[in-house]
Amino acid sequence: PLVSMTEMLNKALEGKYAVGQFNINNLEWTQAILAASEEEKSPVILGVSEGAARHMSGFYTVVKMVEGLLHDMKITVPVAIHLDHGSSFDKCKEAIDAGFTSVMIDGSHHPIDENIEMTKKVVEYAHAKGVSVEAEVGTVGGQEDDVIGGIQYADRDECVRIVKETGIDTLAPALGSVHGPYLGEPNLGFKEMEEIRDVTNIPLVLHGGTGIPTHDIQKAISLGTSKINVNTENQIEFTKAVREVLAAKPDAYDPRKYIVPGRDAIKATVIGKIREFGSNNKA
Ligand code: G3H
Ligand code: ZN
Repeated sequence: PLVSMTEMLNKALEGKYAVGQFNINNLEWTQAILAASEEEKSPVILGVSEGAARHMSGFYTVVKMVEGLLHDMKITVPVAIHLDHGSSFDKCKEAIDAGFTSVMIDGSHHPIDENIEMTKKVVEYAHAKGVSVEAEVGTVGGQEDDVIGGIQYADRDECVRIVKETGIDTLAPALGSVHGPYLGEPNLGFKEMEEIRDVTNIPLVLHGGTGIPTHDIQKAISLGTSKINVNTENQIEFTKAVREVLAAKPDAYDPRKYIVPGRDAIKATVIGKIREFGSNNKA
């Protein structure tokens, strides 16, 4: 069923595992993630960036597509449709009005007072409709759709303020993670993560899940990370599989002949992440 992230993340924090947010781009992407989650009996968060929503014609189409799949695929595990890196109150409102069950308001590129102000407005609107809210402090490195930036660590006092003053359900403190592949090993601020966990007491989110080694994933989970976002890795695996088919069969033209192997590659990747995050058999 379609739910907000609140219960799944509170359970994950309590049970010392993380729920994956896997970003979607189209029908097959969504099928693959839902099939993997159902098979693994795992709760799941479908991440939708503003760019991906535009690609799929809009928030309304995304919601109706997901609802259709939940029905036709007989999905029983908890599923959240979550706006990823929402850029404004208006975008969050638009997603919520279309039926999203969760939103991220990313005010991290604004001064903290503005970030808190926009986050507060989103929380008021969202919570009245049972929708969960994620906020970000500090900045994640790399690029994702329209969001570009260098790494800036989250400030502990700003984290406390945004949690206390807005009532968000979950917080993404940027601590050295990067969108897209890492150049070398990631260098995550675990000491800061632990401090932020202790002073905020709410589930934390780790952005830039692609390319983080298992021991770092485990450490992050042990320090209060309850949601891990993965996007690029599925893109890489999908494209690799499609490319292999097209290279092996240059005469292929039936789209299903190359999209299905791409879909299978995403499903296998997501199953691996679910097991790594420990959310299997938690639905
Ligand atoms: O918000 C989405 C994620 O932070 C994705 O990061 O593309 O590096 O896996 P990634
Ligand atoms: Zn992100």
